[in-house]
Amino acid sequence: MKIPLASPSFDDEMKKAAVDALCNERFVLGESVFRFEEEFARYCGVDYAVSTSSGTSALQLSLLALGVKRGDQVITTPASFVATANVALHVNAIPVFADIDIRTYNVNPELLKKKVTRQTRAAIPVHLYGFPADMNSILEISREHEFAVVEDACQAHGAEYYGKKVGSMGDVGCFSFYPAKNMTVCGDGGMVVTDDEEIAGIVAKLRDCGRVSHYEHDTIGFTFRLDTVNAAIGRVQLRRLEGWNERRRAVAKLYSSLLSDLGEVVLPANGGSVVKPVYHLYVIRTRFRDELKAWLEQNGVQCGVHYPLPIHLQPVYRELFGYEEGDFPESELLCKTALSLPMFPGLEKQEIEYICGKIHEFFDRQTSF
Ligand SMILES: Cc1ncc(COP(=O)(O)O)c(C=O)c1O
Repeated sequence: MKIPLASPSFDDEMKKAAVDALCNERFVLGESVFRFEEEFARYCGVDYAVSTSSGTSALQLSLLALGVKRGDQVITTPASFVATANVALHVNAIPVFADIDIRTYNVNPELLKKKVTRQTRAAIPVHLYGFPADMNSILEISREHEFAVVEDACQAHGAEYYGKKVGSMGDVGCFSFYPAKNMTVCGDGGMVVTDDEEIAGIVAKLRDCGRVSHYEHDTIGFTFRLDTVNAAIGRVQLRRLEGWNERRRAVAKLYSSLLSDLGEVVLPANGGSVVKPVYHLYVIRTRFRDELKAWLEQNGVQCGVHYPLPIHLQPVYRELFGYEEGDFPESELLCKTALSLPMFPGLEKQEIEYICGKIHEFFDRQTSF
């Protein structure tokens, strides 16, 4: 058996959409880009969506559009992809970390609140692995202390929280369409969603070189556009997203039922009736993570570690800010114990049973030593 960690889909309808766009539209800012934006906004239940070249540029432009500037502080979590914190530095602000709640792996609102200062201009909660962050608590703190909230929904397309899609609750929501995500544009891509017309307008201008007309620029912008061909593929992928997310939930449910009797394994939170995760990743935790990963890989099961290091312990963050081990213990615990099992909509029942069988075999051997 050979089972990959992820398996992005690129089918005939997507190929046709790509070729049609290449043959019939402008390569840059063609009609598919604007169609994709309208459809994505509708899907998220917001008024505006503006596509970008990546999730990172979506986050960076959101902070700029919100007026985050030199010396401001942006609170986020150390348990994320490094780009979540980098974007604060991209706009000359200072990333400030608050540790996670080890039950959900998302930022702990109580700890976030303790990090608020007069310099706090924004917070970036991350819906890590596709599990919604505690938005009610975070939004309450943001209203009390008057800072903006940028949802990092790069891993959570379609996840729901009290009936709302993630990305639609903060001032701005940001998505990535990198190939391993729940939906992709078969390349790099991103999206900013918001109900605020002004923010949408600023992001649209900034991603297109600060243009007000073809040769007139009234702000210093970037070349952060999504290509037309990628948008055309994204439109087809978006139509598949709900079905794929349902499949991901079914895969997660089967994993959790087959692994529930293992005392050494911590399973992911399942959300309950009002929080609907989308399992971008299915992450278990065990103190035998490295040994289990090696064992599964020997048996043809590709696994991942998201992430081996929390952001504050990345060499560049240690160097810039002097962080040390022990500064954010829950995020560090997650990074030492997390193991991502194969997760994609087409994963077969027999493959999940095989993987769980191998995990049981591993722990049976462990106890017999
Ligand atoms: C949580 C999170 N934030 C931000 C990003 C950045 O997105 P991109 O790789 O599209 O720039 C990613 C994607 O890798 C991510 O997982």
